[in-house]
Amino acid sequence: MTKQEITIAFENYNDLSELEKDDQALCREAVKAMDNSHSPYSKFKVGAALRLHSGKIIRGSNQENVAYPSGLCAERTALFHWGANYPTDAIESIAVTAHTDEFMIEQPVTPCGSCLQVLAEYEKKQNSRIRVILYCIGGPVMIIGGIESFLPFLFFEHRLSV
Ligand code: THU
Repeated sequence: MTKQEITIAFENYNDLSELEKDDQALCREAVKAMDNSHSPYSKFKVGAALRLHSGKIIRGSNQENVAYPSGLCAERTALFHWGANYPTDAIESIAVTAHTDEFMIEQPVTPCGSCLQVLAEYEKKQNSRIRVILYCIGGPVMIIGGIESFLPFLFFEHRLSV
């Protein structure tokens, strides 16, 4: 028997002003994306913004449904829009933010497992990493360099890939 440890690296910033200008702008796009959040059930708005290699920005927001499982997270709303419309323009970064009037959000919100799985799929598809910028409005920001840091034991079997 051997024991192993995996170390993951990520960056912590005290607030938005410490980020590069492009990353600050992407976080603001994620904030704007929340305007179109449809979240009457959770009252929890989530915004996501993708920056593509060309510089194009794609926004997504959570879209809920009275049949709860039919809703979709902000990240996948943006990611599937990318997959359906811009699949050859690689995703460089995704910024994610959240807001609710119900309580104070004091830490960055991290993507759910299903969104991470979709991010991992698209990293494989485009053969490059996707930086994840998690922005707590008025608070700290985390930057994670790729999905492997979230899912080091990601399911992958190369013989299933095309
Ligand atoms: N939500 C997201 O949009 N992204 C996440 O990564 C986690 C959760 C949404 C789903 C639902 O509309 C609301 O937040 C509350 O769970």
